[in-house]
Amino acid sequence: MSVLAFRPIQFCGCSESRKSPLFSYGHRNPQGLAFGENGTLYEAEHGPATDDELNIIQAGGNYGWPRVAGRIDEKNYLYINWSEAPEDVSENADPLPDSVPQFPESTFEGDMVEPLATYFTVDDDYPIGQICGYICDPTIAPSSILPYTAGEDGIAEWDNSVLLTTLKHGTLYVQHLSDDGTAAVGDPVAWLSTQNRYRDVLIGPDNRVFIATDAFGSAAQKFGDGLNTSILHNPGSILLYTYGEEGGSDLGLTRSSQTVEEARAAGTASNNPKEFEDPNTGKDAATGETEAVTAESDVAQVAARGGPQFAQTCSTCHGPAGRSDAAAVLAGNEKLADAAYVATTVVHGFGYMPAFGSQLSDTEIAEIGTYIRNSWGNDYGVLTTGDVTETR
Ligand code: HEC
Repeated sequence: MSVLAFRPIQFCGCSESRKSPLFSYGHRNPQGLAFGENGTLYEAEHGPATDDELNIIQAGGNYGWPRVAGRIDEKNYLYINWSEAPEDVSENADPLPDSVPQFPESTFEGDMVEPLATYFTVDDDYPIGQICGYICDPTIAPSSILPYTAGEDGIAEWDNSVLLTTLKHGTLYVQHLSDDGTAAVGDPVAWLSTQNRYRDVLIGPDNRVFIATDAFGSAAQKFGDGLNTSILHNPGSILLYTYGEEGGSDLGLTRSSQTVEEARAAGTASNNPKEFEDPNTGKDAATGETEAVTAESDVAQVAARGGPQFAQTCSTCHGPAGRSDAAAVLAGNEKLADAAYVATTVVHGFGYMPAFGSQLSDTEIAEIGTYIRNSWGNDYGVLTTGDVTETR
């Protein structure tokens, strides 16, 4: 069950003289909003851990959040009103005591606009958060949407659909619609999947498909043994695919006949236009170049090896000088004195700090850890390969 805190929504019963601009409500983290050709307004939003939604927006519609995630199906979601909970109850308490007000989805009152589709609803026994953190949860994290009709010369296989770019799987999903556009037909089909986070899609003249990618963040790993990664293959880029005759496009807009379930299963390399090597996977095992960091290693030498790796892997969030608004400040940070804390943070991640355990070797983490523990006012000695091995 998701355990989340929120405040009640205020629906403005405003007078004529103070009209509210509120058009619809009960949304959770909507990122995609676009009109279809016939004037239907579509919207996509992120669910908590299950139940991303594709909706049609209606004036005055209540879409259920925070009482309902996806449909009213009592699956994997309870509304918990922490503002009415006793102060001494931890949000991690399991099971939650009855003194914390909890509401199953069926307690929703009034009319709710049902989603067109949910991505994805799973049963209560799905191990939310336990497979590889949120990247392995059933949500796909839709960013933008593009309602699409092919017309005479368009991409026939995508005719009458909503295209959804998604963050977690670097995939363009094609959700087919009924003829009148008011119902989803089948599961979405996965196309053009790469190890990236997709933000937006646009189809230009000549059926060129442009996809914008995030500069950093976590995504499903397509190459390598891990499930999630923060190594993006085309960070901060616009990708271009050209739709051609069957198999005739050298940029390889290749159709995936995979269902989303299949695409989500370990690695979706088969529908990738281009094979990449994950630059950080098993690097030292392959080359044998790096030597283990031990308590006797020279701090300055190890830090010098870690510096460039920090710049490549960590500085987008933490800033090149260990200081940024986007992540914890590492400069002058006393927590870094604790070697085990640094090792476990980098291997396993927490909150929005991604886990690097599957992409970096123990020695690489030791080198980066040594660099951050001895830069920008920090002076805490080496982080050893052994420290990292112990935390796995
Ligand atoms: C996608 C952005 C991102 C990347 C990339 C990233 N971090 Fe972080 N890191 C964070 C965030 C955000 C936090 C704070 C997490 C929180 O409080 O929820 C954090 C926390 C940390 C902490 C704990 C600091 C503290 O005060 O508790 C350490 C240590 C750390 N990161 C090291 C690294 C290292 C080393 C790398 C590269 C291997 C790295 N991070 C890459 C976002 C990132």
